Amino acid sequence: MKISFTLNNKKVSIDTEPTKRLLDVLREDFKMMEVKESCGEGECGACTVLLDDKPVTSCLLNIIHVEGKKVFTSEGLSKKFLGKLLIDCFDETNAVQCGFCFPGFLVTSYHYLKTDGEANLEKIKVALSGNICRCTGYQKIFESVMLACLRNDSTGGKS
Ligand code: FES
Ligand code: FES
Repeated sequence: MKISFTLNNKKVSIDTEPTKRLLDVLREDFKMMEVKESCGEGECGACTVLLDDKPVTSCLLNIIHVEGKKVFTSEGLSKKFLGKLLIDCFDETNAVQCGFCFPGFLVTSYHYLKTDGEANLEKIKVALSGNICRCTGYQKIFESVMLACLRNDSTGGKS
């Protein structure tokens, strides 16, 4: 079945099984290895991408549901102002250890900055509660996102 959608701002089409997971399409067909698989059950957030501007776990989504929609991976978001800002803040606070969880954290944090963006620790914790990190104690990740919120505020909130 032919499925067409927008991937990181580029129109793409693929002939595939309609039940193939978006995660597998991204990794196998588009070689987007930044989209990670850990639990494969929607629990860890490693495979998170934006679908029509909302974070979704790509391990739970069949490609047929992506027809005509807009997908952004962490790689695509890293080229946008807020994505770059987040990456700088993650670097500065040394929030990244093995890095496996970070593509998912980047996508979820980007969505928080776009839709709320308040430098409020409790809100940030709730926003990132679907993402699991096995290496860090989360504190530095929260600090990074807080820093990104403060910096974004001082620019007048670009995207
Ligand atoms: S791999 Fe998709 S949520 Fe864990
Ligand atoms: S930095 Fe290793 S899982 Fe998060």
